[in-house]
Amino acid sequence: MNLEELKNKAQEELELVDSLDSLEQWRIKFLSRKSELSQFFDHLKDLPLEEKRVNGQKANEVRQLLEQQYFKKKQKLEAESISQKELDITRPGVKVERGHLHPLTLITRELVQTFEKLGFDIALGSEIETEYYNFDALGIPENHPARDMWDTFWLKPKTKSQKSKLLLRTHTSPMQIHYMETHQPPFRVIVPGRCFRFEATDSHHDIQFHQLEGLVVGEDVSLANFKQLMIDVLKEIFGNEIEVRFRPSYFPFVTPGLEIDIKFKNEWLEVMGAGMVHPDLFKNVKYHYQYQGFAFGLGVERIAMLKYGINDIRLFFSSDLRFLSQF
Ligand code: PHE
Repeated sequence: MNLEELKNKAQEELELVDSLDSLEQWRIKFLSRKSELSQFFDHLKDLPLEEKRVNGQKANEVRQLLEQQYFKKKQKLEAESISQKELDITRPGVKVERGHLHPLTLITRELVQTFEKLGFDIALGSEIETEYYNFDALGIPENHPARDMWDTFWLKPKTKSQKSKLLLRTHTSPMQIHYMETHQPPFRVIVPGRCFRFEATDSHHDIQFHQLEGLVVGEDVSLANFKQLMIDVLKEIFGNEIEVRFRPSYFPFVTPGLEIDIKFKNEWLEVMGAGMVHPDLFKNVKYHYQYQGFAFGLGVERIAMLKYGINDIRLFFSSDLRFLSQF
């Protein structure tokens, strides 16, 4: 069969093709390795040079034309088959899964916004601290029994001569000192951030967790101010029915010190430590004696657990999608 006849035959048969299946049959017959056209190319090598050139060019033209017509037909048939069979506009759509924020991010943002509305500034500290800021400047020198309250991840010193030992901050309170060193009262500031403790984990303790530190300093800042502030903030987060308890406690950097509990399923759950800033801290940062203030360190996971009814703190860092996708 010569090329012209082959081309005509292929085009006639392509006219009759009416499905993707028969199109595939057509492709095998006319364009595949086993097609007549391929055989034609195979025979070219036996021809004299000039004929080889002329016939080769012609055969290429025919192949290109047939390929073009093949793709056109294919597109047409595919479009038809979708509109006939698959496009049913009455069927429900496929739900697109969207990412979302982690529960800790949600609660941190809510807390930060609540304090922002009350005129608080926001400061961020570093997760690596020196022994001085994490302990000594807060009235917890080496060998002070209160150091036992914060089991610490110490970092290996880089050089032997390094002055202050480095650690992963055990609370956000070091920022009290950093902030006071660089700001003059009156001010109110919060510091959200991650903390670390070298301790055994259980449903209420993890080796990493978040705190939100607060510090308010001025000439007439009182414990009564603190109590009202916390009642207002906790009611904003949990609603009016929440029950709050203030209980005396001890932290070396406040006096008097207290802890605040929230009632959850008939049990009191501790959510923060707090108190009036110890005068020694003011002395450390060279503030005038007329100033006083309060500080608090709020457990962000604890608040999230209460708000969302979560009973194990370890879930927050578990990457368990069954947990995470609920938020
Ligand atoms: N830093 C304390 C802790 O981690 C909490 C605290 C903060 C207590 C501020 C008093 C004042 O337990």
